Amino acid sequence: MSKVIALINQKGGVSKTTSTLNIGYFLSLKSRVLLIDFDPQRDLTKSFGISEEQFSIIDLLNNKKFTPTNVKKNIDIVVGSRQLEAYKLKKNSFKDVIEPLKKEYDYILIDCQPKMIIDEVLTINEVILNGTDFILIPLVADINTVNGAFEFLNSIERIQNTSNPNLKVLGMFFNRISTTKVLYKQLYNHLTHLNEDIVFRKTIRQSESVPQAIAMQKSVGEYAPNSIGAYDYKLFTNDIIKKLKTFD
Ligand SMILES: Nc1ncnc2c1ncn2[C@@H]1O[C@H](COP(=O)(O)OP(=O)(O)O)[C@@H](O)[C@H]1O
Ligand SMILES: [Mg+2]
Repeated sequence: MSKVIALINQKGGVSKTTSTLNIGYFLSLKSRVLLIDFDPQRDLTKSFGISEEQFSIIDLLNNKKFTPTNVKKNIDIVVGSRQLEAYKLKKNSFKDVIEPLKKEYDYILIDCQPKMIIDEVLTINEVILNGTDFILIPLVADINTVNGAFEFLNSIERIQNTSNPNLKVLGMFFNRISTTKVLYKQLYNHLTHLNEDIVFRKTIRQSESVPQAIAMQKSVGEYAPNSIGAYDYKLFTNDIIKKLKTFD
């Protein structure tokens, strides 16, 4: 049975899409992986060079007979759709359709759009979290992003207490660490002080090879296996596997 992990943060530009792709690649070396593009901007889909496709997330939500698109050995993708923005969501729209797919994969990674979760309105991200086991929150080292992530955890708590008691926080991790290193250390200490287990110790450093790989429609592990980016994502993926085991 697979583990369903949403890479989510209300902020844009924190490496949700990049991390979905690169963690997905390293997981796929030993496991079967499904990636789901739940962002109407379709960045994840485009990073595989897919423009239009027969089946998309809309077909999955509509519970049509559905085959994800195979993109590499051990990696399938549910491609994104611009129509998602106008899709009429129901609380269990995602939970009901993901269940049968769980038997086919070891890991299902979801690339989410950057939007807040609000109490009054049912949004795409809330519908995703109603059918998800774990959330993984990418951060960059600035104070607004870190504060925003804690705000976000309050919304998660509401979902855990109401519609999805199975939802767990796998953790937060810092990405694109470089010139802000001093600030990163302060923010890391601040976060671990608030909650010792919440932040992954391993970070992903700023590395030119990461965006270069995306431009070549590859993960960094394939494009530049000896680069900093590949090294960091490989070790981080191992840490994710280890941390997931602590929840078993
Ligand atoms: N480790 C990294 N080093 C350098 N650039 C990165 C790194 N991770 C992500 N980026 C770049 O940062 C930008 C934002 O990443 P993206 O994954 O699109 O964020 P999000 O999906 O959260 O909006 C992209 O241009 C991406 O190539
Ligand atoms: Mg994105």
